[in-house]
Amino acid sequence: MASGTIEDVDGAADTAATESVLRADDVAVHFGGVKAVDGVSIELTPGRIFGVLGPNGSGKSTLLAALTRLVPLTRGSLEFEGRRYDTVRPHTIAARGVARTFQTVRILPGRTVFDNVALGAESAGSAGKAERGRARQRARTAIERTGLAGKERHRPDELSYGYQRRVEIARAIASEPTLLLLDEPTAGMNRQERDDITGLLGDLRGEGLTQLLIEHDVQMMVDACDHLFAMNFGELIADGEPEAVVRHPAVQEAYLGKQGRAHA
Ligand SMILES: Nc1ncnc2c1ncn2[C@@H]1O[C@H](COP(=O)(O)OP(=O)(O)OP(=O)(O)O)[C@@H](O)[C@H]1O
Ligand SMILES: [Mg+2]
Repeated sequence: MASGTIEDVDGAADTAATESVLRADDVAVHFGGVKAVDGVSIELTPGRIFGVLGPNGSGKSTLLAALTRLVPLTRGSLEFEGRRYDTVRPHTIAARGVARTFQTVRILPGRTVFDNVALGAESAGSAGKAERGRARQRARTAIERTGLAGKERHRPDELSYGYQRRVEIARAIASEPTLLLLDEPTAGMNRQERDDITGLLGDLRGEGLTQLLIEHDVQMMVDACDHLFAMNFGELIADGEPEAVVRHPAVQEAYLGKQGRAHA
């Protein structure tokens, strides 16, 4: 397994003033003997789409769980907008502006599409009547942007899996987050639906929303992301400009090496 050093394939020096949205330093999440994430350091800068690539079981979802405080860190530290948060509760970091979607859709099956999305909008803090009105408006906007208009009164279990994913994305953006983390948001979608979602993510980036995206489709990740992180066996194996990361020998080996071994 690779040593602790991570090859920076970016080449170019980072000269820009790097105000960071999120910084994870030497993060490890071990489940008993399983080192799901093991010494990962990443930095997310504003208004860009960052991608996490890696084979099944490489630790991508566990990294997202760590960043959203859903699993405890075995080691390391987390900073959001310059403030440490590695011991806060998940709802605290959500309230500070970190929204996410899950690899397996987590929405309330018994509530309407509108109610599910409004729950995201309201978690931004909704005391008075005026604020509730604004929350409903945020929900309506999110519903339109995710292509759910006309489906507000449906229950998610009446919708296809692709549409259930849209509900989850709508709920996340309705909270008007600073950082959006997406775990395989287009899984189960057809080509057109996937293009719709990646188009939406591009629009959100245009509005300055920082995103961290997990997807398996390498070409889609190269097209959608400004920067890629590649993982294997819980470790970061490459970090940099998308084209360079996918060409990196360690990344090629992580994907193709399996095939190679199968033939050996
Ligand atoms: N709660 C848990 N308890 C024990 N082991 C876990 C737990 N969650 C994940 N793992 C293990 O940690 C490793 C990383 O899993 P993770 O789900 O983060 O991978 P992934 O890169 O998201 O994979 P996939 O592409 O299949 O979604 C795997 O070996 C997995 O079995
Ligand atoms: Mg996963």
